[in-house]
Amino acid sequence: MFSKRSREIAPFIVMQLAQRASEFEAAGKTVVHFEVGEPDFQTAEPVVEAAKSAIDLGRTKYTVALGIPELRDRIAQYYLDQGVTVSSNRIVITSGASGGLTLLAALLLNPEDELLITDPGYPCNDVFARLVGAHPRPITVDAENRFQPTFADFVEAWGVNTRAALLASPGNPTGTMLDQNDLAAMAGFAKESGGALILDEIYQGLHHRPVTYSTGLAVRDDLYILNSFSKYFGMTGWRLGWVVVPEEAIDPITKLAQNLFISPNAPAQYAALAAFDDQALAIHEARRETFAQRAALMADGLKRLGFQIPVMPDGAFYHYVDVSHTGMTSSDFCWRLMDEFQVAVTPGSDFGAHHADRYARFAYTRGGDAIEMGLARIAKALAAWSIKT
Ligand SMILES: Cc1ncc(COP(=O)(O)O)c(C=O)c1O
Repeated sequence: MFSKRSREIAPFIVMQLAQRASEFEAAGKTVVHFEVGEPDFQTAEPVVEAAKSAIDLGRTKYTVALGIPELRDRIAQYYLDQGVTVSSNRIVITSGASGGLTLLAALLLNPEDELLITDPGYPCNDVFARLVGAHPRPITVDAENRFQPTFADFVEAWGVNTRAALLASPGNPTGTMLDQNDLAAMAGFAKESGGALILDEIYQGLHHRPVTYSTGLAVRDDLYILNSFSKYFGMTGWRLGWVVVPEEAIDPITKLAQNLFISPNAPAQYAALAAFDDQALAIHEARRETFAQRAALMADGLKRLGFQIPVMPDGAFYHYVDVSHTGMTSSDFCWRLMDEFQVAVTPGSDFGAHHADRYARFAYTRGGDAIEMGLARIAKALAAWSIKT
C-alpha cells in the first residue's frame, strides 16, 4: 500500500540509539549524549525577543514564497561582509536546509538522473534524490584526502546520467572542508558537463581555525549554495534556512517554492533578522570558540584512550573516530557503549557503507562536564572489555 521509496528509506540508527537513551533516562539513568547533531545552546536571546515581538505584531501570516525581502537583503549583506557580492534576488528562504534540499532536488533532477553524494556523508542526502525518482551515486572518500573527493574522484564518478553533485564543506560526519582549488575545478567540470554543483554550507561559520574561503560563492559564483539557521545561528527547531541559486534558476525555483511550501515560517523569518545583529553575532561567535575548545578536549581524551582521529575537523561539531582498536565493529561498539555504559555515539553505518564498521561519529554538542563524564565512562568500558588503551 505504501510507496516503494518509503519502504526503501533506511532507518536512522541514531534515532534508534536516541530511543534507547530515552528509555534509560526514563528509568532514572544519566546518558551522555555524543550522538546529537544539535548544539546544546538555547537560541540567542535577541532572536527569541524578536520572535516574541513578531508574534505580538501579528506577523503570523503567509509571507511571499521566497521569503521576506528584509531577510533576503540581510543575508546578501552577510555575504557582502564576507567580501562576496550576491544579489538578494538569488537568495531563497527555505524551511531549513532540508526544505532547500527538497527544492534543489525538484529543480535539478529528473527521474533516472544521478546525484553524486559522498560516502560517508549526511544520511538524508540520498532520500532527497530518491524522492524525485533520481539515483544517488556515492563517491567514496577517505582519510588520506581529508574525507573529501579529489577532482580526479569527482570526474571519475560523473557518469552520463549525472546531473548534479551534492558536497558539504565543512561536512557531516567529518567536519572537513573541501579544498578551494578542487571546488573550483569541480564546479567548472559540472557546468561544462551540463550539470550543477550544490554546496552544503550548513556548518558555515563554525570553523575551528582560519579558513581559506568562508563560502563557496567566493570561489565560484554559479554554485547552488545550501545554508541554514540551524547550526551556527542555533535555531534548529525554527526550521529556517536558505539557498543561493544562479540567476537563471530564480523563476523555476520560485514556482516550486510557491507550490511546495507556500511560504517559510513567518515569525521565524522575523526572528532570524535579529540573528545578524551585533549582539546576536557576538553570542554566535563565542559559541564557535566554545565548540573549538570542546573539539580539542574531546580529541585529547579519545586519543589518550587509544582511539585514532585520522583527520581533525576544520569545523562543525563532530569527530569521525577510528574505533577499530576495540576489535569490534563500530555498530557493536556503539550499542555496547549505550547498553552497558549509557554513552550514545553514532556508528559509521549511519553515514554510508564505506569503512562504516571502522568509524563512529562523536559529536561535541554537549559541554565540558558531559565530555569528561563520557570519556570516563568510555575508559571504564575499555577496561571492562579488556581493551588496551
Ligand atoms: C550536512 C547537513 N545538511 C543538512 C542538514 C539539515 O539541516 P536543517 O534542515 O536543520 O537546516 C543537516 C542536519 O544535521 C546536515 O548535517
